[in-house]
Amino acid sequence: MSDDLLKWRAEFPIVETCTYLVSHSLGAMPRRTAVYLQEFADMWSTRGVRAWHEGWWEVGRETGNLLAPTLGVAKNTISMHQNVTVAQGIVASCFTYKGPRRKIVMTDLEFPSNHYLFEGFRRYGAEIVYVPSTDPIRLDLQRFLDAIDEQTVLVPLSLVLFKSACITDARAVIEKAHRVGAHVILDVYQGAGTVPMDLASWEADFAVGGSVKWLCGGPGAGYLYVRPDLAASLEPALVGWAAHDTPFEFATGAIRYAPAPERFQSGTPNVPSLYSARAGYEIVAEIGVPAIRKRSLMLTRRIIDAALAAGYRLNTPVSDHERGGSVIIDVPDGPAVADELIRRGIIIDYRPGAGIRMAPHFYNTEAEIDHAMTTLGEIVGSSA
Ligand SMILES: Cc1ncc(COP(=O)(O)O)c(C=O)c1O
Repeated sequence: MSDDLLKWRAEFPIVETCTYLVSHSLGAMPRRTAVYLQEFADMWSTRGVRAWHEGWWEVGRETGNLLAPTLGVAKNTISMHQNVTVAQGIVASCFTYKGPRRKIVMTDLEFPSNHYLFEGFRRYGAEIVYVPSTDPIRLDLQRFLDAIDEQTVLVPLSLVLFKSACITDARAVIEKAHRVGAHVILDVYQGAGTVPMDLASWEADFAVGGSVKWLCGGPGAGYLYVRPDLAASLEPALVGWAAHDTPFEFATGAIRYAPAPERFQSGTPNVPSLYSARAGYEIVAEIGVPAIRKRSLMLTRRIIDAALAAGYRLNTPVSDHERGGSVIIDVPDGPAVADELIRRGIIIDYRPGAGIRMAPHFYNTEAEIDHAMTTLGEIVGSSA
């Protein structure tokens, strides 16, 4: 029964104070997070510099291992970074863009910072190919696959598109990329913790994401998965001393890479953020993404039914197999309506060109959805 998940509500204090429907942006904080952050502070305060060798140096690898089942990957394949941008930068720095294979193929529906980062690689010779989509909700799959060719080096692609919550056909993209010798970087941020994924069996080359959304892990804990059979042959240019095989020898000159996952590390790990990510990772793994997905589909379906009954335009796929964890509703005067919903204690967000994004998670109830949709109806009705 997906209602069983409601026992977790007590673990998330914010849901008692408002109608919290914004987990695609910032997931609710688990109570346990405060305990772990206190542990971090106690360790710093009582052990000082000894903390590095009493747990802090290992915390990145351990945090990655807590996330591994949620992504469907083996242990010791994930390194932790500040955010997606940094993780993507490390991947991009493993390749050269000088020979005939120098295209980076992306959809125009990608999260903007993915564009910003790879645009910067033009100065190193990269050719950026944007594949336009005629549909603002979904990727034009065939057109995208056709753009991936023998000149393609990288294909950064979101598993769930941030503006529409549409799930892309990552497996088809990986299969095509591998056929022509290109590598796929899956940005799983909008899926991890709400959409099941099996990245190892999909043979994803790289996956990046962060913890603030469905993983309820807070800011500063981005992650990078690298396919284990690929990892040993890669030499990132964007590295620091934490990627060295023997970092505490402080050898100068060219790096001697550590084995994965540490070879993708940069400098000093982001220890407090890793402590803050732990509770959310544990809870998501304990519940299991399939159970979360079942509840998510039921709650997003409830939003869709109410939205369609009210005659709102949806910028989200209505079919379950294509829809991630959020529903995007386009109503007239969207920004003002969103502000008014927030003023009335219904926490959502608004994205230009998309609409009001509503994102129930496993801790939300059907009554909260009904309350949100009734209030939305009142606000839209009063401004009509
Ligand atoms: C799909 C996707 N990728 C990347 C980001 C941003 O990542 P970061 O801030 O960790 O670089 C977001 C944030 O909303 C996102 O939705």
